[in-house]
Amino acid sequence: MSTVPTPASPLCVVVLAAGKGTRMRSDSPKVLQPLAGKPLLGHVLGTVHQLAAERTVVVTGFGAQQVQQAFAHQPHLRFALQEPQLGTGHAVQQALPELPDHGVCLVLYGDVPLVSAASLVPMVAQARAGALALLTVELPDPTGYGRILRGAGGAVQGIVEHKDATPEQRAIRESNTGILCAPLPQLRRWLGQLRNDNAQGEYYLTDVVALAVADGVPVQAFTVADTDDVLGVNDRKQLAHLERVVQQRAANRLLESGVTLADPARLDVRGALHCGRDVFIDVGCVFEGEVHLADGVRVGPYAVLRDVRVGAGTVIHPFCHLDGAGIGADALIGPFARLRPTTALADGVHIGNFVEVKNSTLGVGSKANHLSYVGDATVGARVNIGAGTIVANYDGANKHRTVIEDDAHTGSNSVLVAPLTVGAGATIGAGSTVAKDVPAGKLTVARAKAVTLDGWRRPVKKKLASSPD
Ligand code: UD1
Ligand code: CA
Repeated sequence: MSTVPTPASPLCVVVLAAGKGTRMRSDSPKVLQPLAGKPLLGHVLGTVHQLAAERTVVVTGFGAQQVQQAFAHQPHLRFALQEPQLGTGHAVQQALPELPDHGVCLVLYGDVPLVSAASLVPMVAQARAGALALLTVELPDPTGYGRILRGAGGAVQGIVEHKDATPEQRAIRESNTGILCAPLPQLRRWLGQLRNDNAQGEYYLTDVVALAVADGVPVQAFTVADTDDVLGVNDRKQLAHLERVVQQRAANRLLESGVTLADPARLDVRGALHCGRDVFIDVGCVFEGEVHLADGVRVGPYAVLRDVRVGAGTVIHPFCHLDGAGIGADALIGPFARLRPTTALADGVHIGNFVEVKNSTLGVGSKANHLSYVGDATVGARVNIGAGTIVANYDGANKHRTVIEDDAHTGSNSVLVAPLTVGAGATIGAGSTVAKDVPAGKLTVARAKAVTLDGWRRPVKKKLASSPD
């Protein structure tokens, strides 16, 4: 007899991800397709993380190298190659050498991204108590799914695949999600007994249910409340559907936490969006990576924010692209502003339309309101960067820094050729190109003087004798 699993027995997870996903019509493996900015498999592994599994084995096949590379940053993961792919039971068999002798094994699917830890925890507990736990779902149209067969007393007897089912069995709506959890010693034994004499000529994992029944092992079916939690992705329509599900859930969480969304259906969160109190987000905004919006932040329509921190009371006007930037409190950004990585704006900074800031810091109350490029610059407080000012940070080979000290003003259309320092309180006249340090507290102008020519006449058009119509 094998050891009876105890509540403390280790949990191992096998994630099936060998399938090609033909219907996606893609060159990349299905489980790497992004959902809310993260690969499908990443969603599943995130859930596994919540279960604190002892060991996780991903069964790969199609695009195995790509899948492994995409998750190389998770060194605790193990991979088992399934080649050729002879069915779901065969897939789990490939993972067995990576698994310990004892404990329980949870089987998940790399293309069923939204299964929740809450629905898996009771299954794991049942398996630890010695049962085979199944996750089932009531579907209005279960075409293609395995059907749950129950005996007269209601006990689960087995699973029949759609292709193998009789018309009576096909009328059953209780369907197999594919997710199950079982004590490992028994699962090993059942997998060894699988045969492929069925409609698809495959080794079906689902056949372990009848084998468990034959062994007198209790089979416990858990039915999920929310169908979306167990939907698989086989084509782009299903992927698009799940994308909306994820986005709707993200929008609901934001609304519940006190954020105002102009339209919960027109918001995309592809990462983590953290909001303070009384944040307002207008339509069409995309949030990627880690975004923090402090109390009272307003984000105008059609902004894209990626890895950004925004201080309290700051207003982001429409159509901004903000990437890798920190913005202080009570700042005004945009419309049409672009902030690039390692930009840090202090409180009260104004960045106006068609202004790009890269790898620069701007001190308290500094302004660049129109049509400027500020790159690799350290800008002090209360600086006014005039319309069209360009920080020429690149000499064609190397990038150089520019320092603009407190209270300096750069005139419209000035070009600051780095490296240089503009001293505190300096003023640069409009249209100046400066390539040397600009002294503090003085006006520096570097432009051709205007000349006025007396007696000059504007050319006039010659009159033709007869002009054609
Ligand atoms: C499977 C179940 C079915 C269930 C359905 C839910 C079996 C025999 N059938 O059917 O009862 O209703 O899922 O979606 O298990 N995979 C491999 N290697 C293989 C075959 C599949 O890794 O050799 C992976 C696929 O990548 C996929 C998952 O297993 O992630 C399911 O495979 P799929 O072919 O979609 O199974 P179904 O026939 O839909
Ligand atoms: Ca499937």
